[in-house]
Amino acid sequence: MNIKTVKNDPKNIKADILVIGGFSNLPNFGAEATGIDKLFGGMLMLEAESANFIGGAGEFISVGTVGKIPAKRVILLGLGDFKALSTEVLRRAFGSVFKNLKGKKFSTLAISSHGISKNISSYECVKAIAEGTALASYDFNKYKKEKEGRKKEKTENFKEIFLIAKDALTSKQIKKGITEAEISCAATFYARDLVNEPASICVPVHLVAHAREIAKASKGKIKVKIFNREECKKRGMDAFLAVAAGAGEEPYFIHLSYKPKAISSKLKKIALVGKGITFDSGGLQTKPGESMATMKLDMAGAAAVLGVFSKIVEISPRAEVHGIIAATENMPGSHAYKPGDIVRASNGKTIEIGHTDAEGRVTLADSLSYATKLKPDVIIDLATLTGACMVALGEEVTGLMSNNKKLAEKIKESAESSGEKLWELPLINEYRHLIKGTHADVRNSGASRYGGAITAGLFLEEFVGKVPWAHLDIAGPAWAERETISYVPLGGTGYGVRLLIDFLKKI
Ligand code: BES
Ligand code: ZN
Ligand code: ZN
Repeated sequence: MNIKTVKNDPKNIKADILVIGGFSNLPNFGAEATGIDKLFGGMLMLEAESANFIGGAGEFISVGTVGKIPAKRVILLGLGDFKALSTEVLRRAFGSVFKNLKGKKFSTLAISSHGISKNISSYECVKAIAEGTALASYDFNKYKKEKEGRKKEKTENFKEIFLIAKDALTSKQIKKGITEAEISCAATFYARDLVNEPASICVPVHLVAHAREIAKASKGKIKVKIFNREECKKRGMDAFLAVAAGAGEEPYFIHLSYKPKAISSKLKKIALVGKGITFDSGGLQTKPGESMATMKLDMAGAAAVLGVFSKIVEISPRAEVHGIIAATENMPGSHAYKPGDIVRASNGKTIEIGHTDAEGRVTLADSLSYATKLKPDVIIDLATLTGACMVALGEEVTGLMSNNKKLAEKIKESAESSGEKLWELPLINEYRHLIKGTHADVRNSGASRYGGAITAGLFLEEFVGKVPWAHLDIAGPAWAERETISYVPLGGTGYGVRLLIDFLKKI
């Protein structure tokens, strides 16, 4: 999506559609709407009244301008209470407009940011508008028949989007907002595409191909190491290989690394670890059909890491960043790992298999052990780890667990600025006995079905040593089963990409 900033008066701009914001608690929805209404001879307010438009966040009306201004239509977009305006309100409001315009034939659109940026900076304002606009326009349509008159690759209905801002031409902040939105949206689309790809295509070697492509495109700025089964065996990654044992597809361990020219941040080395189960059938303790239906999503953590790496040169963090993925299917083949098996992870700890469907943490045991050996300042893992986390926090909120308060606070800040919601769960020692093994050091399924997100987090903690670490259980937000957030279409959401980018930019 190509968004340009322009300096113009909204009432003079030529476009198929002009979007202006309106606030529920300002007279006539605020100065902007009032100005346009004057040119309309009061028609805009009459329309608003007859449509019961009250300016609530995300509510909008579309009105033909019948030649009163150069724009052909005006969309009056509700932004809610002026005092409650936030970047997430903007993302969702603009998302709701774009979700609605998807597939419709318009060619130019102008968005006025006049009068919006009162209590948030113009940089934040423009970035949020551009993000809401672009993220809502995403479509995974490569498997759909071409529709008449439109090529399937090109579903963008707007050739040009103009963002009108008073200081568009002079403000570096505005340009920065647009550029950052373009980067974060492209990286999010990268992750969404990978998650939406069917699991029979998106097998472990497919993730390897993506990692290699990312490294190749970076012209030496990103390095990639790939370990096959034999190499993993040599490195003692028996936990990861146990999960892979039942799969027809070959497993691969992926390690991407990015080194900036100069490291100038306090955090010098960061490891991002993604759960990379390309399909989770549950293994021998196979999932019931309904729960298995969406299990191509189980590599969403890996997709987020790859999404970030696809744009890491542009993000240009001031630290070394490592991306780590143990990629395999979890399948019930004749060599599949079995309940009661005992496997040793590469940090030496033994794991008793209580349940073959708790496979993510078994693969992560080796990914986190590997990450720890790199001696990073922090490790952040993203994993579609437990149904229990969804029971606790619902479909839109990630469970954050961490052994380090400072790191957890930084992640919460990035969640707040990106709008990617999370809530911290306590990694309390009182529950540690629930993951004790009978004949091994730890057990991969908790002795109680209660507190399943926390016991999974405690299990992971066994593999990070003393390294500051944060675990994001993204089982809910990684996949949109129903329409909830306006700028998140059904399917893979790309959750985590924007949060991680924000984190990397702020270190
Ligand atoms: N991949 C699933 C978790 C999941 C469930 C992600 C629903 C997204 C949506 C994970 O591997 C799993 O199956 N976990 C089990 C663990 C249990 C057997 C201890 C679960 O949550 O039921
Ligand atoms: Zn599972
Ligand atoms: Zn899983």
